[in-house]
Order: sequence, then C-alpha cells, then structure tokens
Amino acid sequence: MLPTRTPIRRDYRFELPAERIGDWHPLGRHVSHFFNALSLFFPDGERFFIAAVRHYRERIGDPELSAAVAGFIGQEAMHGREHEEYNELLDRAGLPGSALVGFVARFLARLKKVLSPMRQLSATIALEHFTAIMANVLLSDPRILAGAEPHYARLWRWHALEETEHKAVAFDVYTSVYGRGLRAYLVRVTGLIGATLIFWPLVFGFHLRLLRADPQARGLRGWLRLIDFLFGRYGALRKLVKPWLDYFHPRFHPWDHDNRSYLLELNAFDPSPAKI
Ligand SMILES: [Fe+2]
Ligand SMILES: [Fe+2]
Repeated sequence: MLPTRTPIRRDYRFELPAERIGDWHPLGRHVSHFFNALSLFFPDGERFFIAAVRHYRERIGDPELSAAVAGFIGQEAMHGREHEEYNELLDRAGLPGSALVGFVARFLARLKKVLSPMRQLSATIALEHFTAIMANVLLSDPRILAGAEPHYARLWRWHALEETEHKAVAFDVYTSVYGRGLRAYLVRVTGLIGATLIFWPLVFGFHLRLLRADPQARGLRGWLRLIDFLFGRYGALRKLVKPWLDYFHPRFHPWDHDNRSYLLELNAFDPSPAKI
C-alpha cells in the first residue's frame, strides 16, 4: 500500500551554528540536550535501517516499492550525514558526543550479529514507527520548535518531513516479504516492545550524560521546563502513547495515521533559515 508519492533524496546542508549546540532551543539546555541525545542515535541507527532494508532488495517484486526503497536509502543517508556534523558540534563544545556515538555503533554492530535479518527488519520498522510518530508531534504542534535557533529548527523540520514521507517504506518491505500472518505479527510487535525497552532508557541515559557534562545545564527550572515539554503542556512524549499502541492492531499500517498533508511543505522546502 503506497497511498503517497515515492520518497526522494534531497541533498540539503544546514550549517548549524556551533556555539548554539547547547542552547538552541528556547526552553533551555535541558530541552536542547533532549534533541541532541536523539541526534546521537541517528547516523548509526539509520545505517542499521538501510542495511536491514537493503538485505531484501532483490526480493521486492513491485517496482514502485523498489523505487520507494531507493528513496528511503537516499533520505536516511542524507540524514546520517547531517546528524554526523550535528553530533561533532557536541564534541567541540566539550560534551561526550563521539563517546556516546561510539557506544551506539558498538551496540548496533553486536545487534547485527545476534539478530536474524527478519528481526533486524522488525527492529527497523519499530524504530521507524517511533520516528514517524515523533515527527508527527513535531509537525502538528508549532510550539515544539517555536523560537528555536532557525538552522537547528530547519534541520529538525526537514528530518521530520522526510521521516513522514518514507514512514511506510520499511514496513511495506516487511509485509511484502513476510505477509500478515501470525508469525509476522508476533515478530513485528515484539520488535516494538524490544525497541521501546532498549531505545528509551538509552536516550535518557545519553540525555543525562550530556546534561551532567554541560556545566551550564544546572538548576531546577531547566528540569521543570523539560518535564513540561515531555509530559506536560507540550506533551512531546505523552502524545506518543496512543499512536504507539495503534501498532498492535493486526492490520496496522503507518498511513493509518494520515498526515500526508504536511508533505506539501516538501515541494517548496528551502533549507535556508530565512524560510521559517
Ligand atoms: Fe532519518
Ligand atoms: Fe526513517
């Protein structure tokens, strides 16, 4: 099922201002470092996704899905490149960016050795579900990035739009190879449970490491703003619960959450911050 257009690779550069890496978000360093912690997972995580999907390339009969896979790979490669540059800024600010990225790389290399290709694809579609539902929160609530440093805001918006554009590609590869039977269902949902139990503790662990290493990230106010951002008025994580649960429906498909109207923005997307 491909109810939207084929994703295409867009080669954009964002030239993030290095000196703002710790405080680019208007809600302060605690919220900035929450996004920064997520960024640390992308380059190696997205390479893992690419490899998991590429494994099945020969087995995809549908030419439309093949073209979508090529677009998916191109988009994730561009995201990885831009987030690699992003993450380097953490090191330049004296924060343990590359040490944490090294942990992700080693962890995923291990996972590749112990998980079957089917389980690797199941982990990929689970994490793609997370990126898609997080992207939807970002795109549907302008407050999430309001007032942010424009280059950083632009990068996160671009990533959210392309995650939306390709959100069903890995999923469609999974169902085209494994179908909709009981085994495919069980491997898919246990993949989401496993991904949730592993990914979020790591995100919060990384977030804490960044906050502890940043001497300017101190004080109760930053924590209160972070809690408000994640669980309170903004509810960036609170809003993930319902769409997370939808994944357990046996007939679930990523486009059940029909937010393709946001994709119109990609037609005229300009990475320059003047266009915010
Ligand atoms: Fe991505
Ligand atoms: Fe993705």
